Amino acid sequence: MPTADRSRRAFIGTAAAGAAGALLSRALPAVRAQGADARLEILIDERIGTIAPEIYSHFVEHLGGVVYDGIWVGEESAVPNVGGVRKALVDALKKISPGVIRWPGGCFADSYDWHDGIGPADKRPRRTDFWADSRPSQNRTATTGPQRFDPNRFGTNEFVRFCRLVGAAPYIAANVRSLPAKDFYQWVEYCNAPAGATTMSELRAATGEQEPFGVRYWGVGNEPWGCGGNFTPEEYAAEFRRFTAWVPKYGVPLRYIAAGPNGGDREWTTRFFKALTARGAGALNDVFGWALHYYSGSTGNRNAIEFTTDEWYELLARADRMESLVTQHWAAMAESDPAHKVKLVVDEWGAWHAGAAEMPPNYLWAYPGSLRDALVAALTLDTFNRHADKIAMANVAQLVNTIHSLFLAREDRFTVTPNYHVFAMYAAHQGAAAVRAVFSAPAIAFGRAQALWGLAGSASLRDKALTVTVVNPHAADARDCAVTVRGGAVQSARATVLSSTDLRAHNSFEHPDALAPRQTAVAVRAGGVQYTFPAASVTRLELTLA
Ligand code: AHR
Repeated sequence: MPTADRSRRAFIGTAAAGAAGALLSRALPAVRAQGADARLEILIDERIGTIAPEIYSHFVEHLGGVVYDGIWVGEESAVPNVGGVRKALVDALKKISPGVIRWPGGCFADSYDWHDGIGPADKRPRRTDFWADSRPSQNRTATTGPQRFDPNRFGTNEFVRFCRLVGAAPYIAANVRSLPAKDFYQWVEYCNAPAGATTMSELRAATGEQEPFGVRYWGVGNEPWGCGGNFTPEEYAAEFRRFTAWVPKYGVPLRYIAAGPNGGDREWTTRFFKALTARGAGALNDVFGWALHYYSGSTGNRNAIEFTTDEWYELLARADRMESLVTQHWAAMAESDPAHKVKLVVDEWGAWHAGAAEMPPNYLWAYPGSLRDALVAALTLDTFNRHADKIAMANVAQLVNTIHSLFLAREDRFTVTPNYHVFAMYAAHQGAAAVRAVFSAPAIAFGRAQALWGLAGSASLRDKALTVTVVNPHAADARDCAVTVRGGAVQSARATVLSSTDLRAHNSFEHPDALAPRQTAVAVRAGGVQYTFPAASVTRLELTLA
């Protein structure tokens, strides 16, 4: 567990840049302010761009306990629900202003026939689920229940109902691997055509949904380099063109999202864009977003809660790779799209551990997540904020009961995870102007000659309200920091912090508040702030400027 032995420090500045080891050389002022061992300068006149509210978006796949039990409990359930949707989830999710929810997958999307999920519930067919034979480990597999045989009880109407209940926009991923483009057009028609116009919209109206759903975001497949069809980039570019050509719009500005690379696969990006634009750059007009997927994985034996201090740093450093992935793919996109018409959509991200023993084996990859995962969430969201000019949307994988989830739910039990608290703390960034923040703090050495920055974060401005979010990844050392605002003066300040002396701190059904944010005092001095970021912490500073 944490010791204070990490003394091999270099006093190096990080221009909020991230990328483990990629410590930038902005010089630290020679004199330490008020004995601080770190500095943060916020340059409010250096605007990066508006932080798309959609960066704070979610992902829901019919996988394990995500849809059935996590979201959908059914109208007849003893679990409190709103039209079949778990009420505790609705109440908690609403509070963090979810931008968009992506559904039905993931890999599941490319085996899903949307026709199966509409109409009278008792007439819907049962199908073998995409994940039925998945074996994340010997004893954890989808042997029973809706996780093996999909009852199709949660279909398009139920998904849209869920989105409406929480105030999120729907983002639907189409099946490219196992259905023709015609089914995609008809899905758009079912969702968006006015009642009475077509047979598809009549089908919708017959379910009581007279008003079109107005679905704007449409994903064209998922991971076509893998479960989405094993395409080459050129083959997928041809599919993308075919699927998106001449789709009836019904007055809705459709935003197509093309399925992009797995992590650092730059070649997928360059070859897709080259193939797409082979007959002219006009093809770029049909692409709203280029979807990057990056999971930072796990460490050691993949246990979400048990890890060493080196594994703490290792996971944070891996998550920090998001910084270089964003810039690397952005540069690759520019080769065919120099004006950057197409933005990045990181529609799957998170740490990915093995399932916890207290969750049923068919709830694949369900675990509570610890303080370590909260720092992964925070440093990733900070990365997105810093690249507000490039990123149009990001969807954490996934919402509930799997991978980097914000919630854990099992029958009548429910808890938020530490990730939820990070999303709540960071919600203030949504729609604000990202401004440059320059951190200077001692770097942290760990493992075999690896390094991680000492402090990083992001800042955004809305009128006089400056929101600054900061991660101190040091397992044992607090960081005393002088915060100055170039181009402004701080009038008042308050802080919210998520931290614990136990790196493994997490919430459970029995102790849902074991790890929760708390308010701390902030000293305002001469138009700036002196603040001590606790070890292993995520902090939000709310600064009001004069
Ligand atoms: O989120 C789980 C899976 O990870 C998704 O189905 C797939 O897109 C990715 O590989």
